[in-house]
Amino acid sequence: MTTEHTDNVADLHQLIADAPDLLAAAVTVAEIDVVEAGLLGKASPIADARKGLGAISDADDRRSTGKAINDIAVELKERVAERRIAVESAEREAILGSEVLDVTLPGRRPRRGAHHIIQQTTDEIIDIFVGLGYTVATGPEAETEFYNFTALNIPETHPSRLESDTIYLDYGDHEEEILLRTHTSPMQARYMEENDPPTYVVVPGKVFRSDAVDATHSPVFHQLEGLAVDEGITFGDLKGTLASFAKQFLGKSTEVKFIPHYFPFTEPSAEMHAYTNGRWIELLGCGMVDPAVFNHVGYDPDKVTGFAFGMGMERMAMVRHGITDLRALLDADRRILEQYK
Ligand code: PHE
Repeated sequence: MTTEHTDNVADLHQLIADAPDLLAAAVTVAEIDVVEAGLLGKASPIADARKGLGAISDADDRRSTGKAINDIAVELKERVAERRIAVESAEREAILGSEVLDVTLPGRRPRRGAHHIIQQTTDEIIDIFVGLGYTVATGPEAETEFYNFTALNIPETHPSRLESDTIYLDYGDHEEEILLRTHTSPMQARYMEENDPPTYVVVPGKVFRSDAVDATHSPVFHQLEGLAVDEGITFGDLKGTLASFAKQFLGKSTEVKFIPHYFPFTEPSAEMHAYTNGRWIELLGCGMVDPAVFNHVGYDPDKVTGFAFGMGMERMAMVRHGITDLRALLDADRRILEQYK
């Protein structure tokens, strides 16, 4: 073994002496990688020593120097691997410690929406009439003067046609004005035009009037129309049907009474009042379909008779839930609305 090679190998032994401090200073896997490259990588003293082996002419000398270099490399590799395992597990511990996950904690419930109370009321009332054999139809909110008034026997001079009551749209012309329907009754006419008797239908929908918002009024509200036309329908059927509805909606013991009223499209006409929560309240308008309406829609008033009714959904919701100010239903106040989930 020449002096030069012996010196080289001695330098390499020095690496083993230095390695523990170098490795101890490396506290992350990335730092270990750097130390490992310095000790064993392409530009390391080990690599240089291996490159120098070719220059040793004596075969025995070359073999023993090569083995010495290898032994040192193996030793260094072991130390690096040992330190790597320690640092890796320390890093894992640190991550686990910072990401505490308590699987026994209760989950966070997603917020669930609910139908607005007006929609709930409408659905409930529709269900009652579907139970009595009625079907459901809907119609246009922008309506012609003909269906909203004329077909319903409402005279040209009736005050409800005035702009002080009805919201007219800028479509249409003088012959045929277009307006926002003021009630769901135009669907009586539309439905009878399209469907032959017997007719049992309810029509929910938005209606519009030139009203300012107060405790009992809004320019937009909701109605539900009902129409029953068949052979031999009497006022007794009207009373029985609507009394049954009131009992289902407000409770079995609910009493009803019918007070004479006037609507151009029914004759006779009435208001139905119900006794609930210790007082009488007006629930809806109703009456026997006026033969003039049958004539407008092509039904034969000598063959069929029928009754119709119309009720306000906001009013029904208020009666049902004891709400005294309509605005509680119109404001988007979740403290109020969430009580009706
Ligand atoms: N359309 C009437 C209103 O809005 C209610 C009604 C409907 C009355 C059907 C009688 C028959 O007040």
